[in-house]
Amino acid sequence: MAQIRIRNTNEWVTGEENVRNFLNKYEVIYEHWNTDKLPEELKENFSLTDEQKQTILKTFDAEIQDLVARRGYRTWDVITLSEATPNIEELLAKFEKTHTHTEDEIRAIISGSGIFIIKGDDATGYFDIVLEAGDLISVPENTVHFFTLTDERKVVAVRLFIEENGWIAYPYEDPNFQKA
Ligand SMILES: [Fe+2]
Repeated sequence: MAQIRIRNTNEWVTGEENVRNFLNKYEVIYEHWNTDKLPEELKENFSLTDEQKQTILKTFDAEIQDLVARRGYRTWDVITLSEATPNIEELLAKFEKTHTHTEDEIRAIISGSGIFIIKGDDATGYFDIVLEAGDLISVPENTVHFFTLTDERKVVAVRLFIEENGWIAYPYEDPNFQKA
């Protein structure tokens, strides 16, 4: 289950209801997918073939179609990041810069873990949402955020998009921002 670290106070928000209530204040959607449904060979597998990625999308087709009906997504895919990813350092350096998008950024974690860091309000400052397998969040459009990996440095996630250019990152320069 997802956990949140509030940077200004160094408090943690834990427990599904508390996490959902906290995120709702910032219009961040938080839902859960049952990753027990995955075929055994695809659980915690970070070097997926194209065919295996398609199997993941098929496994969660009902969940994807539900999001399509509710929120209008038109394309979706599976992304993997691990030490085996070519230019992983370059990619992470790009992901770790504060930015916004013109549409929401929705991710369902299938294996591994990841952290979305979101700019909250004056009371919270930035807060870190630590996600594990089964956690789904959607960062609202025009909300300042960035993504990074946890110490295990590997993740598989499903992404959904409305427009082809919806994922373009617009840099947000924050003079007070500290990465960790
Ligand atoms: Fe983003």
